[in-house]
Amino acid sequence: MNPPVSVCEAPPYREIFPVDGGNFDDAGLVSGEIKSRLKEMGLVKDVVRRAALVCYESEINIVSYARQGKICLEVLPGHVIIEAVDEGQGIADIRLAIQEGWSTATERIREMGFGAGMGLHNIRTYSDIFHISSEEGLGTRLKMIIHIPREEGPSGGEGSA
Ligand SMILES: Nc1ncnc2c1ncn2[C@@H]1O[C@H](COP(=O)(O)OP(=O)(O)O)[C@@H](O)[C@H]1O
Ligand SMILES: [Mg+2]
Repeated sequence: MNPPVSVCEAPPYREIFPVDGGNFDDAGLVSGEIKSRLKEMGLVKDVVRRAALVCYESEINIVSYARQGKICLEVLPGHVIIEAVDEGQGIADIRLAIQEGWSTATERIREMGFGAGMGLHNIRTYSDIFHISSEEGLGTRLKMIIHIPREEGPSGGEGSA
């Protein structure tokens, strides 16, 4: 197993993944793919875990509340940038939407195990920088930045799994 690459060796990398609104059968595939890419790059586990989580929540929200969208992944020396952009119903009150437990999920969404109202809250918690903007009736745009730590700790244990 290769040791994790340091920040400077992380390749400049950009990829765009389309996400279909309403397609619950495929919900989670894009974030799974993004997680694999980041693992392959050898990024430290904590960065991969947080990036995968914010991608997953963004993807589920596009599937749940938008007609269509995309997730853009960019890995630069020093940080991972994830943007989730959709065309859909938008969010009327962003402050409310970010609150823990606040949800407009339908019965159908809840039956599938989503709709606990923690997605945006967790995205904000696990991102180092988080921007959200939305226009009702048009769509929503999220930008999440996760910093890649500059050096491994002395134990270097992150790359062992
Ligand atoms: N991409 C989106 N487009 C429209 N509304 C959204 C979007 N993402 C989130 N929301 C709104 O914000 C609320 C909170 O989102 P979230 O924290 O992910 O919780 P949940 O999805 O479990 O309801 C949602 O119930 C929905 O009303
Ligand atoms: Mg959600």
